[in-house]
Amino acid sequence: MVLFADAPESAHAVHTPVESLAVVVERRVADALGGAEPLLRRSDRADFQANGVLPLAKARGTNPAALAAEVAARLVDAGPIVHCVPSGPGFLNIGVGDAALLRNLAARAVDSRLGVPYTADPGVTVVDYSSPNIAKEMHVGHLRSSVIGDALARVLDFTGESVVRRNHLGDWGTGFGMLIELLCEDAEVPDDVAALSAAYQRARVRFDADADFAERARLRVVALQAGDEPTLAVWRRLVEVSQEHFREVYAQLGVLLVDADAVGESHYNPMLPQVCAELEAAGVATESQGALCVFRDDDAGAPLIVRKGDGGYGYAVTDLAAVRQRVGTLGARRLLYLVDARQARHFAQVFDAARRAGWLPQEVTARHLPFGMVLGADGRPFRTRSGETVRLQELLDQATGKATEIVAAKNPGLTGEALRTRARQVGIGALKYADLSNNRIKDYVFDPDRMLSLTGDTATYLQYAHARMRSVLRKAGEAGAVFEGALLEPAERALGLLLDEFGAAVAAVAETCEPHRLCAYLHALATAFSAFWEHCPVLKAEDERVRRNRLLLCALSARTLELGMSLLGIEAPAEL
Ligand code: ARG
Repeated sequence: MVLFADAPESAHAVHTPVESLAVVVERRVADALGGAEPLLRRSDRADFQANGVLPLAKARGTNPAALAAEVAARLVDAGPIVHCVPSGPGFLNIGVGDAALLRNLAARAVDSRLGVPYTADPGVTVVDYSSPNIAKEMHVGHLRSSVIGDALARVLDFTGESVVRRNHLGDWGTGFGMLIELLCEDAEVPDDVAALSAAYQRARVRFDADADFAERARLRVVALQAGDEPTLAVWRRLVEVSQEHFREVYAQLGVLLVDADAVGESHYNPMLPQVCAELEAAGVATESQGALCVFRDDDAGAPLIVRKGDGGYGYAVTDLAAVRQRVGTLGARRLLYLVDARQARHFAQVFDAARRAGWLPQEVTARHLPFGMVLGADGRPFRTRSGETVRLQELLDQATGKATEIVAAKNPGLTGEALRTRARQVGIGALKYADLSNNRIKDYVFDPDRMLSLTGDTATYLQYAHARMRSVLRKAGEAGAVFEGALLEPAERALGLLLDEFGAAVAAVAETCEPHRLCAYLHALATAFSAFWEHCPVLKAEDERVRRNRLLLCALSARTLELGMSLLGIEAPAEL
């Protein structure tokens, strides 16, 4: 099996994704401009518009208009370009031929990647996401991290990156002392997370009111740290009960995190003395009022506390240990953290300390990817009527509830398990798309009516477009074929050129970590399909060759929507 030791490379060898027509055109223009890098864009006056003539004219001291005419004439002879006219100051309007577009579609039809390129130099990326806390129910605050992190992990994975998912569970710390003490005294551990949450509240009340209990809780923390077996047994049970709940939520949400990805704070606990020792030895951390701290010259704010005055460790040093392990042991060349914007300072301090300690070499990127808040209908941070944090399960139920109404109204015959499955696909898809399609950093309003609109920028709209395509293909009994001699209607060309952009859209998400770019692309594709559908009869096309070309456009649109949605973690049922 040594043959496959270089798996990413051999994956390239096995299958080269179809090259985008836009990339070919860009290369032709670059050649014609003597290697300068033109910017190629889609245009409403031609298929593409390129710049790049002006700087070249300046460099050569020639007249831009004359140079543009000369370059344009040369381009028309080259490959897919069939017309090219200078436009405005130094722009070229470029059109590709129908035959070239059809050939590209034919190649796309036999490409399982639909033109999505592999990353040029694959490596390990760790995506830290979801990361809820033990003994508490997941709430609205975990939605965006889970959904966005999962989409990014899927996209990066698809580009050939080795993705390591990390669910950095909050499963350790002094807070568990009082809960474990209470459960030991009650002599039973609840077997669901809601009861566990309630016990946590009770423990807190008792901790504040009963000094003896508070003292026993403190001793319990010491016992937990020291690895006292009965204490650890209760702790393990807490973790298991909570994990059961997380698993349930992930299954409903279609989030790919599995148990092996759950490497919580407790995992790093045994490493913390060593981490502190290294920080001190490197001169990165210093003692201050009994605590071990990392200060920054350029920052007068609170330092990063890696060990408290009482010798206890906290959230900060655990993240330092995680960086050290993710880079040092897992060999990560990129660390991504999907954590809300309020922790920006924490991560800036952690990354800075890790760099100075040598755990984060220059060539490794570490990025905190913050996101905005989920707001209620009143435009304020989402809360229940009594002012409490909204449970994540409640949001999932609202979305699937609304989806059940819509799906049932459209399919009176659908009942029971089939209805539930469909409603989950539609409801959860809508909820995820509403989250992903917004610019990551912006807040958005959680509104089930709007997120499930059949006509808006929603997953529901994409799912219906996809189901319509599948229905046409079922009726036709085939996925079409290409006839190069045929001429294309404007709506067919527009759709074909959009299909050609899929690879660039996916690559843009991998590069920027902004899933809304893929959402915008898929919405544009579904919209272009609607226009095509309106103007170009498919099953009733008179010419057999036209019919089969159009079927191919339907098949490619369906596959592109399906793959694109799956990269976002959204299902695309064949029927709705
Ligand atoms: N458990 C933390 C919280 O709920 C989030 C952890 C984020 N990940 C990390 N590596 N710090 O706030």
